[in-house]
Amino acid sequence: MRTQVAISGGGPSGLLLSQLLHRKGIDTVVLERKTKDYVLGRIRAGILEVGFVNLMREAGVADRMDKECFAHDGTVISFGETQFNIDFKELTGSNVVVYGQTEVTRDLYEAREAMGGQIVFNTENVTIHGADSDAPHVTYSVDGTDHRIDCDYVAGCDGFHGISRQTIPLSIRKEYEKLYPFGWLGVLSETPPVNDELIYSGSERGFALCSMRNENLSRYYIQCSLSDAPEDWTDDAFWAELKRRIPAEYADKLVTGPSIEKSIAPLRSFVTEPMRWGRLFLCGDAAHIVPPTGAKGLNTAASDIHYLYNGLVQMYETGKSDGIDQYSEKALARIWKAERFSWSTTNLLHRFPDQNAFDLKMQKADVDFLRGNREAQSVFAQNYVGLPY
Ligand code: FAD
Ligand code: DHB
Repeated sequence: MRTQVAISGGGPSGLLLSQLLHRKGIDTVVLERKTKDYVLGRIRAGILEVGFVNLMREAGVADRMDKECFAHDGTVISFGETQFNIDFKELTGSNVVVYGQTEVTRDLYEAREAMGGQIVFNTENVTIHGADSDAPHVTYSVDGTDHRIDCDYVAGCDGFHGISRQTIPLSIRKEYEKLYPFGWLGVLSETPPVNDELIYSGSERGFALCSMRNENLSRYYIQCSLSDAPEDWTDDAFWAELKRRIPAEYADKLVTGPSIEKSIAPLRSFVTEPMRWGRLFLCGDAAHIVPPTGAKGLNTAASDIHYLYNGLVQMYETGKSDGIDQYSEKALARIWKAERFSWSTTNLLHRFPDQNAFDLKMQKADVDFLRGNREAQSVFAQNYVGLPY
């Protein structure tokens, strides 16, 4: 088989790139290790930057999102007894929207299927060959039968545990990583959200986040120990702990109910450089991970896709390579800023096992400064709604 761009990974990065390129007449094949239902079953991000929304519009897949998403103009920050609102709209003129990653992925799968896009599920042993040559190819097997795709370029969109990043030799690849000594326990429940804005809450028992998907679907997170398993947490224990970590006015009106999903994610900061090796381009979680505080994971994947998509279109339409040549540099410049924001917001609101009394005072001083300083709020808001592409 031959295609122009072979894409490893059918998560949001791979699907969005495939859909955008298809509309410009550029042929792609997406290889996905799991089934479609498995990918759609993963509950992950919920907050989209305007840049992401615009990319979905450009991909022609925004109709349902535009109808069903909720615009969020600000957020509540709480820390101990301190509580305040950061007004994104007033400070930046922009907002974010609530629309779940599951819905984004569903819309992209539907659009790909409607346009006859090629997505191969249940792939095994995906291997990228000749990425540093002029004629790369990808091999894989499905149900024990081997296949080969010849292509012009390969997009590595196969997430943190994918094979694309490993294809770049260690002599070229440099990785930067920070692990955090805690995870997030997330619960999805068919209950009305406790507040119309998100609540990011630092408490002496650890961090908590109140988020949502729609008017009867709430998403809540609490900081947990890395040794915890979701089964260790009954629903009752989760709700009781969440209530202890958010301001009393919200705890009193929190509507609880059975969880319909419960999972734990470890927190990690990670970046690999460069994001291009020959004709292989890494995108999204394959190249970088942020801790979820600040909702940047999926949004950084979208900015990578923006740069790669434009670079590839320029190459196919004009033969000019500066877009793809600058891909790694441009993508990384934006990513490191999102890494900084996610790392600093994590540090601001979580309890660390080795924090001493001085560290706690520093954390409180940081929060107090943010509460009282419009410029500091403006910096937070600019980062939260998303830096320009
Ligand atoms: P992925 O979504 O990981 O997609 C990669 C795809 O590649 C997967 O479908 C995988 O099955 C496939 N794949 C892997 N290996 C292979 C292979 N060898 N061959 C073929 N296919 C392969 N971000 C937020 O902003 N907010 C959140 O609350 C949030 N929660 C998260 C919770 C968890 C548990 C995780 C892991 C991430 C979370 N994120 C969150 C981050 C966000 O979901 C990711 O940034 C986003 O999914 C990145 O999309 P992606 O397409 O690059 O990677
Ligand atoms: C959600 C996740 C986040 O990491 C975040 O900062 C905000 C919202 C969510 O899943 O809704």
